Amino acid sequence: MSEKLSIEDVDVSGKKILMRVDFNVPLEDGKVNDDTRIRAALPTIEVLLSRGAKLVLASHLGRPEGEYKTELKMDPVASRLTEILGKTVKKLDQVAGPDVSSAVAGLGEGDILILENLRFEKGEEKNDPDFARQLAEPFDLFVNDAFGTAHRAHASTAGVADYIPAVAGLLMKKEIEELTRALENPQRPLTAILGGAKVSDKINVIRRFLNLADNLLVGGGMANTFLAAEGSQLGASFYEKDLLGEAGALLAESKESRCNLVLPIDLAVTRELKPGGYSEVMTPDQIDGDWKAVDIGPETAAIFCGYLEESAMIIWNGPLGVFEVPPFDSGTELIAQAVADSNAYSVVGGGDLVAALSALGLTRDISFISTGGGATLEFWEGRELPGITALQDK
Ligand code: 3PG
Repeated sequence: MSEKLSIEDVDVSGKKILMRVDFNVPLEDGKVNDDTRIRAALPTIEVLLSRGAKLVLASHLGRPEGEYKTELKMDPVASRLTEILGKTVKKLDQVAGPDVSSAVAGLGEGDILILENLRFEKGEEKNDPDFARQLAEPFDLFVNDAFGTAHRAHASTAGVADYIPAVAGLLMKKEIEELTRALENPQRPLTAILGGAKVSDKINVIRRFLNLADNLLVGGGMANTFLAAEGSQLGASFYEKDLLGEAGALLAESKESRCNLVLPIDLAVTRELKPGGYSEVMTPDQIDGDWKAVDIGPETAAIFCGYLEESAMIIWNGPLGVFEVPPFDSGTELIAQAVADSNAYSVVGGGDLVAALSALGLTRDISFISTGGGATLEFWEGRELPGITALQDK
C-alpha cells in the first residue's frame, strides 16, 4: 500500500476541516457506555485545534439505514466529548445544507462542532455523489480518522474525497502502521488467535494467516465448524453446515502450510445457555444430545497458553466462547490474561473482545488495540479499504 498523506504533512491553520471519526459507540440509557473510540480520536482533534483549525466532526451511530431515529442522535456523543475535552462541543441537527454551511462559516480558529448522525441521510451508505458534494461543500480539507469504518465505501469515507483534498488523521495513520507491522514484518514465532461465531466471516483471513503465521489458535463457534468437518458430532452445538466443505479444505491447506492450526481438544458444554448455567467439560467426540459447546475447555486453554508463552508476536480477533454469558467467559479470560502477561508484541481487534479486555482491566498490557472490527479483519485479509484508498498518496 502506498503511504498516505496525513495531517502532519499539510497546513491546517485557519482551514475549515471536515473530520470523519468512528464514534459508533455503545449507548445505554441515552449515555455513552464505552468511550474508547472517542478517546482514540483525541490526539487528532487536539492537534488540529491547537494548530488553529476550524473543526467539524462527523460520524455514524448504529444502523438507522437512511431514517431519522431519535435514539441514534449524536447528542450523547457530543456530551461525552465535551466532558473529555473540557470544552463545549456544539452539536448541529443537520449533516449538510445551508444551516451547516452558516455554522461552519461562523467558526473561529480552534472551534469545534459535531454534525448529526451521517446515516440519517439516504445518500451516505449509497455513496451518492450529490450527497458527498453537499457534505464537502463548506470545507477546505477532509481528514479521515475513522479507521473502524474504512472498509465501507460511503459518502463520508470515500465519496467526499472527490471534492476536497483528503488526508489521514493520527489514529488512521497509527492503525495502518501497527496492523501492517504484523503483516509485513512479523516477529516470530507469530501466533494468531481467531474466535467468534462464524467461519464464514473469516475464511480469507484464516487463509492469509495459514500463509503468514507460525501458529493459528481457533476457538469460539467457528472452531465447532472445523471440528465438525473433522467428523465430530458435537450434539446441539452451533456450527455452519454449509461451510463444512470449506472448513475441510482449510484443514487440508493447513497441513501443507508452515502454520500449526490448533483446534480445541476439550470444550465447556451446557444445556442451558444462561448466566451461571450448569456446565461440564467434554472432548468434541463426547458431545451429544442437547449439549452445546460454549467455550474452550481447560486443557485447550493450557495448550493455547503454551503457544502464547513462546510467541514473539500475537494477533487476536474474536472471543473464544460465549463470553457475554458467564461462566462461559472463562476461556476468553484465561487467554486474555496470557496475552497480557506475555512479552510478545500483541495486537487485539474487534469491539466485543476489546470490551472484554477492558472489563478485565487488561487493555494497558496489550501493545496495540485496534479500534476496528470488520475493518481490522479486512485489512489483515489484505483487501483494499475504500476509506484508505481515497486518501492522497504521499
Ligand atoms: C464498526 O462498529 O465496526 C464500525 O463503526 C462500522 O459499522 P458498520 O458495521 O455498521 O458499518
